[in-house]
Amino acid sequence: MTRRICMKISKLLLGASLALGLSMAAQAAQVEVLHWWTSGGEARSVAELKKMLEAKGHEWKDFAVAGGGGESAMTVLKSRVVSGNPPAAAQIKGPSIQEWGDEGVLADLDSVANAEGWDKLLPGVVADVMKYQGKYVAVPVNVHRVNWLWANPAVFKKAGATVPTTWDEFFVAADKIKAAGMTAVAHGGQPWQDATMFESVVLGVGGADFYKKAFVELDPKVLNSATMIKALKTFHKIKGYTDAGSPGRDWNLATAMVINGEAGMQFMGDWAKGEFTAAGKVPGIDYICIAAPDTEGDFTFNIDSFVMFDLDDKELQKGQNDLASIILSPAFQEIFNLNKGSIPVRLNMPMDKFDGCAKLSAIDFVNTAETNTLVPSMAHGMSTFPATQGAIYDTITEFYNSDSMTAETAAKKLVKAVAAAK
Ligand code: GAL
Repeated sequence: MTRRICMKISKLLLGASLALGLSMAAQAAQVEVLHWWTSGGEARSVAELKKMLEAKGHEWKDFAVAGGGGESAMTVLKSRVVSGNPPAAAQIKGPSIQEWGDEGVLADLDSVANAEGWDKLLPGVVADVMKYQGKYVAVPVNVHRVNWLWANPAVFKKAGATVPTTWDEFFVAADKIKAAGMTAVAHGGQPWQDATMFESVVLGVGGADFYKKAFVELDPKVLNSATMIKALKTFHKIKGYTDAGSPGRDWNLATAMVINGEAGMQFMGDWAKGEFTAAGKVPGIDYICIAAPDTEGDFTFNIDSFVMFDLDDKELQKGQNDLASIILSPAFQEIFNLNKGSIPVRLNMPMDKFDGCAKLSAIDFVNTAETNTLVPSMAHGMSTFPATQGAIYDTITEFYNSDSMTAETAAKKLVKAVAAAK
């Protein structure tokens, strides 16, 4: 080999290793975040997190898996983790944090949590859910309220109907809207949306204690009780007020029907408010937020949170800690929740920039904790492990879509399905 050729080869090798080194450095600073926030309001909210992470010098790698409620995201996440390639962070919440903790794949966030005094910044019940064996492994983002009814006042006016506060009033109003030729209830027929509507019915028909016995304690006598049968009948009756396009519809498209005046109402958590906000709509004028019928004194909570996966890379660990710290910072808590429709999870946050729906939610969150009417959302993974939640979803959706199954049969099926999943 001539000297020139030798030099050429070594130059090439040097170039290649430099390129490799550079791309490794770029990779090292990349924080990959799994989430399912892809609707208009959700995307605006998550963009704030990206912005703040980038301001700390990190690169955001978006790992968005579309699908409200996050079922698809969880399936994709599992396959990534099983193949030994977890993202840096993932949206995981409620009791399932414990299941991920058992897998031994989560990073310990105690160094940030202790330095920033998370125990003092968070309500105790929330902090407990974020810890695995006494150590923080997750950071909460917000508090969503699920038991809301969203209404378009123009539709109500056209139909000569009144926004309902009880189930009796609800069916009177729904009849009027239907008779006026509009869709009374905008619904997306997907299991998680069926479950979201169903849990509000159970809360309204049975009350908070009944709800807890059913969806937290999973008491078979309560799952197959006269009250549950009444709730199932009420839930099924709502189907008669939805439109033919309902099966499979995404939740945000159902919200759009209320926004556009095609439909009168939607049962959905306050992430729906993110859609109204993104569309430039004002609460109290363009739309109304009201507790789902007969649930005014109750609060179904759904707390979003992120876990970080245990990774060796020091740069990435820094990125993960920075991400966790940003999430609980007052600036992020405000801007994110203004867009998302939720309220801050950090205690003592000023609420002056928030609208009436959020202010009411913040007051009710505190009050219902005192009256023991603050309940975890079954539909959003707050009350059970995912397997039980899945069993409830399956039964409820099967019943909702069937024209022949009786409520009595559905209640019995519920008991069996829950027992099999435990
Ligand atoms: C929930 C989640 C909310 C919202 C909703 C629809 O499970 O907690 O943040 O995004 O799904 O995607």
